[in-house]
Amino acid sequence: MNRIFPTDPFSAYRQFFHLPSNTIYLDGNSLGLLPKAVADRLQYVIKEEWGVGLISSWNQAGWMELPQRVGAQIARLVGVEPADIVVGDSTSVNLFKCLGAAVQLRPQRRVILAETDNFSTDTYMAEGMAKLLGNGYQVRYLPPNTFDVRPYLDETVAVALLTHVHYKTAAKFDMKQVTQDVHDCGALMIWDLSHSTGAMPVQLAACQADFAVGCTYKYLNGGPGSPAFVYASPTIAEQTWQPLSGWLGHQAPFAFETHYRPNTAILRFIAGTPHILSLSALHESLKIWEQVDLDALREKSLALTDLFIQLLEQTCDGYGLEIVTPRSHEQRGSHVSVAFEHAYPVVQALIARGVIGDFRAPNIMRFGFAPLYVSFQDVVEAVAHLQDVLASHEYLAPQFQTRKSVT
Ligand SMILES: Cc1ncc(COP(=O)(O)O)c(C=O)c1O
Repeated sequence: MNRIFPTDPFSAYRQFFHLPSNTIYLDGNSLGLLPKAVADRLQYVIKEEWGVGLISSWNQAGWMELPQRVGAQIARLVGVEPADIVVGDSTSVNLFKCLGAAVQLRPQRRVILAETDNFSTDTYMAEGMAKLLGNGYQVRYLPPNTFDVRPYLDETVAVALLTHVHYKTAAKFDMKQVTQDVHDCGALMIWDLSHSTGAMPVQLAACQADFAVGCTYKYLNGGPGSPAFVYASPTIAEQTWQPLSGWLGHQAPFAFETHYRPNTAILRFIAGTPHILSLSALHESLKIWEQVDLDALREKSLALTDLFIQLLEQTCDGYGLEIVTPRSHEQRGSHVSVAFEHAYPVVQALIARGVIGDFRAPNIMRFGFAPLYVSFQDVVEAVAHLQDVLASHEYLAPQFQTRKSVT
């Protein structure tokens, strides 16, 4: 059947990425594709900047400013000023910095509001902070699938830590409303944007968010373990120390003063020596985003996930699948998750066919639609493979049953 697809304003972007042959890549929400320009850039950084420039590259190649320069590249994608965001460390570590900075600003309050089934690191970091603070500090958990946070807010809540788009279900909070609700009770707001950045426009400053963090190895294609970004609103940042007060967050690092004096605003969120190789790869990847129209990107993302859901409903009815991703556009991110009893082996059988998604325990098949490079034809072919795997019971084969350590 010849399908008429919506126009794809990003069809020219696919060529910027290395996509292995016979692969339908639906895991860009976990690890983005390799941009072709990155390999050359890394070669150059390794051979010339490191190999030849050696230590002078900290000055001459601008290594020291990479956290700010890469932050500035991300600024437009999350709706903040270029000077208010930096890149370095992991999302987990940046969460700790933001939590620590936030609790200092609300010293009379003893509760961190978190999500029961958020991505584990967010919850673990909140628990770690509460344990460190002691003195009756607690984490209060929103029940799963709670999008109205008001019943869980009161004068004891110091800070709310929420993930904008849920890693498992792709359900999305209303950032503006929730931030407003959190502020109305006098608390501060931290957003984890790991599953939003590069998938849709985000307006942190317009929503008056206090802090935000996010991964860069997903939709931003920074490469495995690429450093995360951290944002703090300039007024909030100026009022607080972040607890990982390393030397590069100091106002004069090379003065090696005895005592810490925080640098201005977001610069105090830099802790130690920047990861130059991975920052250079990310810097190169982010050049692709310079002209990307984020509203058009969101439109394509929704068209991709709409098509996937529609085809799934049309062709995979009767196999016991349950789509757990919200149908409403306002509440949906850029991946689609499907609950199924045999989720793990089905994902393995699909991977063996070149259709790459992933599995999240206990029973979720997750398919990500990175709008820059996933095509509508990919969606049609992926669903056809899924239908075939289910109908043929191919997933029951022994080689698909053994759990690998990364799922
Ligand atoms: C919501 C969310 N936060 C954080 C992380 C990862 O944090 P880190 O980069 O520190 O491993 C992920 C990873 O998938 C995530 O989904």
